[in-house]
Amino acid sequence: MAEPRRLTPLGTPAELRGECARIRSAGQSLGLVPTMGALHAGHRSLILRSLAECDRTAVSIFVNPTQFGPGEDFDRYPRSLEADLLLCSELGVDLVYAPTAEAMYPDGFATWVNLRGVLVETLEAAHRPGHFQGVATVVTKLLVTARPDRAYFGQKDAQQCAVVRRLAADLDTGTEVVVCPTVRDSDGLAFSSRNARLDPAARRQALAIPAALAAAAAAHRAGETDPERIRRLILGRLAESPDLAVDYVAVVDAETFEPARQVSVRCEILIAARIAGTRLIDVLRPGTDERLAVGAGG
Ligand code: PAJ
Repeated sequence: MAEPRRLTPLGTPAELRGECARIRSAGQSLGLVPTMGALHAGHRSLILRSLAECDRTAVSIFVNPTQFGPGEDFDRYPRSLEADLLLCSELGVDLVYAPTAEAMYPDGFATWVNLRGVLVETLEAAHRPGHFQGVATVVTKLLVTARPDRAYFGQKDAQQCAVVRRLAADLDTGTEVVVCPTVRDSDGLAFSSRNARLDPAARRQALAIPAALAAAAAAHRAGETDPERIRRLILGRLAESPDLAVDYVAVVDAETFEPARQVSVRCEILIAARIAGTRLIDVLRPGTDERLAVGAGG
C-alpha cells in the first residue's frame, strides 16, 4: 500500500484563508474540525464524519492559550504534533492548520468574542473564568478565516457546543455546527487528551463518572424524571470513588443551560470532577446515549 502523504501544516491565517478559498472556488464543500491536538478516537470520529459529509476536510491543531486560566494545565497539556499529522494523513484529511500563538494572537491583539447570559455564567464558565471567552474567540477566528460549510464538535463538551451553536447563529457565519456523539474507551471512560495523565488507580476511580451516568440513564429509562433525584443518584455513585472531587453534577436544558425542571431528551446531565490533578467532564443526553450504558459495563 502506498505511504500516506505527510501533511505539511499551514501556519498562518493567510495560508488557511487562501487554501480554503481555493477549495470553495473549486465548488467543493469544506468541513472543519477544530482541535487542540493529542488526537484520540473522539477526534477521529469527528474527522471521519467530516470526511464522509464534505468534499474536503480541514483539521486545526492549536492549544489555545486564551482558554486556559492562570492555574490551569496549559503548560502540561499533551502535545503530539508529529503523531497527529500522521493520523490526519492516514485518515485522508486534506489540510491541517497548526498556527503558533503569535500567529493567532499577534502583538496588539484586542478583539474578544463574549456571549452573554446563563450559558456563559454557569457550570464550566463558573469553574473556569474566561474559558468561554477564549473558546468563542478562537472558534470565531477559525470560522471567519476558513469559512467552512460545516464545523464538527463533540457532545462531550456540551456547554462548548451550545456556545459555538449560539455564536455561529448570532454572527451569521453560515457554518452548520455538527455535534457528534461522545466516543468512549472499552471501560466506558470518554476519550480525552487529558486521560493520558491518569495512572491505573486514578483511572479506576474515574470510571465512577460513566458508571454514574449509566445509572442515571437506567433510572430515566425506568421512568425517573425528577432532576434532583437524578442528581442525588449520581452524587451517591460518585462518592464511591473517595479521591474524586466533584465540581458539579447538573441537569440542564441543552440549549440555554438553565436548570431543567424535568429530565427529558431536551436535557443534558453533566458531570465535572477532578482526580489526581486531572479535570474530567462527561455528559449524557437522556434517551439518546444508549451506547453509554453498554460501554460502562452496567
Ligand atoms: P479538544 O479538547 O482537542 O477537542 C476537540 C473536539 O473534539 C471538541 O469538539 C471536543 O468536544 C471533541 N471531543 C473530545 N473528546 C471527545 C470524545 N470522547 N468523543 C467525541 N468528541 C470528542 O475542545 C477543544 O479541543 C477546544 O476547546 C477547541 C474547540 C478546539 C477550541 O480551542
